[in-house]
Amino acid sequence: MRPISPFSDASSASRSATRVTTPLLEVRSVETFYGTSQILFGLDLTVAQGDCVALLGRNGAGKSTTMKSIMRLAPPRGGAVQVNGRDVSKLRPDQIANIGLGYVPEDRQIFKLQTVEGNLRLGMKKGPGGQDHWPLQRIYEFFPLLGEARRKSAGLLSGGQQQMLSIGRALAGNPDLLLLDEPSEGLAPVIMDQIQALILQLRQQGVTLLVAEQNMRFCMDIASRVAVIDHGVIVFQGDIAEFQARPEVAKRYLAA
Ligand SMILES: Nc1ncnc2c1ncn2[C@@H]1O[C@H](COP(=O)(O)OP(=O)(O)OP(=O)(O)O)[C@@H](O)[C@H]1O
Ligand SMILES: [Mg+2]
Repeated sequence: MRPISPFSDASSASRSATRVTTPLLEVRSVETFYGTSQILFGLDLTVAQGDCVALLGRNGAGKSTTMKSIMRLAPPRGGAVQVNGRDVSKLRPDQIANIGLGYVPEDRQIFKLQTVEGNLRLGMKKGPGGQDHWPLQRIYEFFPLLGEARRKSAGLLSGGQQQMLSIGRALAGNPDLLLLDEPSEGLAPVIMDQIQALILQLRQQGVTLLVAEQNMRFCMDIASRVAVIDHGVIVFQGDIAEFQARPEVAKRYLAA
């Protein structure tokens, strides 16, 4: 059954505030199923240029399904997804990547038998406006560890390095919007700090981000906006200050 949200007023007020210009990503009334199980129930989510939106929710809330719905790896049966005002319902996942979305899946999907550099080359393609991919040099400046390990088999990297490689491979395609699914999962605190610092650097370089996380604390220093998902519905959407001013939202919907 679809829960009724006590926070829906705040959510629609903040959405209308961002509709002044065309958002980079607009997810409207999306309904997604696996077989006969409905997972997303009329999901609405907006990401404006320059935002870092934290999509927060408990285990099984529908964060990964939201990401897969946007990438059409789990194509929605209802609703619409627009990227820069363009409806993507006729595109394949690889074509969605070509119009400027980079995706770092929860399981990272590293090709373990290939070298680090081989994995990065797989992410290289023309950017959305025909502009080139990030050159390897730029990726190695961003992730010096990957440069040092460029000839190593990717399977020999630590968990944190594999996360960096997966992010580096998505950046190689020069995305306008980067989707990161649980980047902090399974990482030691010191590596989490490094990934946070990288996300902040990416924001400074103009990359817009949507970060799905169970770990609220990981997101508080990096996010400009917060969307909270529960049972496949967005129950809160607002800027970081609004979220922090309403601790009852985290208390009710997150493990906080
Ligand atoms: N391939 C699938 N087939 C059937 N049900 C699925 C499939 N993938 C996910 N689900 C179910 O859909 C719901 C949402 O899962 P989803 O992976 O989107 O949650 P999540 O918020 O990403 O959780 P987590 O924090 O554990 O990653 C869960 O009930 C899950 O069991
Ligand atoms: Mg998930």
